[in-house]
Amino acid sequence: MEIPSQSQDIISADLESVGKVALNSGFRIAVGGKGGVGKTTVCSVLTQLFQKDGFDVLAIDADSDTNLASALGIPESQAPAPLIGMKHLIAERTGTGKDAVGAYFKMNPEVSDIPERYWRQHNGFKLLVLGGIKRAGAGCACSEGAFLRALLTHIILQRKEMVLVDLDAGVECMGRSSIEGIDALVVVVEPGSRSIETALNISQMAKKLNIKQVVAIANKITDLQQVNDIASQLNGIPLLASIQHSVPVQQADIARTNVFEASSELVDQLSEAKQTLMSMIAST
Ligand SMILES: Nc1ncnc2c1ncn2[C@@H]1O[C@H](COP(=O)(O)OP(=O)(O)OP(=O)(O)O)[C@@H](O)[C@H]1O
Ligand SMILES: [Mg+2]
Repeated sequence: MEIPSQSQDIISADLESVGKVALNSGFRIAVGGKGGVGKTTVCSVLTQLFQKDGFDVLAIDADSDTNLASALGIPESQAPAPLIGMKHLIAERTGTGKDAVGAYFKMNPEVSDIPERYWRQHNGFKLLVLGGIKRAGAGCACSEGAFLRALLTHIILQRKEMVLVDLDAGVECMGRSSIEGIDALVVVVEPGSRSIETALNISQMAKKLNIKQVVAIANKITDLQQVNDIASQLNGIPLLASIQHSVPVQQADIARTNVFEASSELVDQLSEAKQTLMSMIAST
C-alpha cells in the first residue's frame, strides 16, 4: 500500500543509500505501541528479515504476554522460559535474596553470562524471553527493572549483530528506561486515534531517553484514507510502512505458525521498512 507523499518527503532523504547501507557496529531496535496493534507480528518478521540479510539477530521478548516465540513459529514446548519469572536468579544477581536487608538492591547486577545461558537458537536467530514486569506502578524502582535494564545495556554488539526487542504494550515500559541506548524505536499504530495517542506519548518519552530515531508503522489498514489520516496525526514521526489488514496473518496467529510465511505482502512491506530504518540508523 502507498505511503502518502508527506511521509515520503520525510523519509526520502535517506532512501538514496538504501541497499548500500554499511553500519560499522551492531545496533538495537525496539518495537512498541498500544496493546494489540501488531508489535509482535512486526518484530517477528523483522527478526527473520535481518537474519536473512546475514545479521546475527538476538530477538528479545520483553512483553508480559510472552508470545514472540509463537509468532516466530517456535512450538510452545521449545520456547525459552521467561527470565523475569526466575525469581531466585534475579534475587541472586540483584542481592534481594532472603538475607537481604530492606528494599535495597544492586542497580547494576552482573548479567554478562545471562544472554548466552538463556537464549535459544532457532532457524539461525536467537530468542531470549525476558517477560514484562507485571507489578503495577513498579516503574524502574524494582529489582526486576534493574535486571532487565542491565541486561539490555550489557549486550555489546559487533558489526553484523543486532538486537530486536518486542516491548510491553503502552507507555509504561518506556518509564523503566531499560531501553535507553537503543538506536531506533519502531512504534506500531493502527487506524483510530487511540494507538496514535499512545505513539505520540511513546515518542515524547523516547526523546527524553535520547533515542534518536523514532519511526512508525501503520498496521491493519483497510483503505488508503486510513494511511493519510495516520500520517497527518503523527506529528512528524516518519511513517515507514503501511501494512494491510490480512486474514492470513490472523490465521497464522490462530494456528501458532510463523507469521513470516503467512503473507508475502507483509514481508515485502517490512523489508522496505527495514532498509529505510537501516539507512536512518546509519545516518545518525
Ligand atoms: N496486518 C494484520 N492483519 C490482520 N491481523 C493482524 C495484523 N497484524 C496483527 N494482526 C493480529 O492482531 C493481533 C495482535 O497482534 P500482535 O500480537 O502482533 O500485537 P501486539 O501489539 O504484539 O499485541 P500485545 O499488545 O498483546 O503484545 C493478532 O491476532 C495478530 O494476528
Ligand atoms: Mg505482543
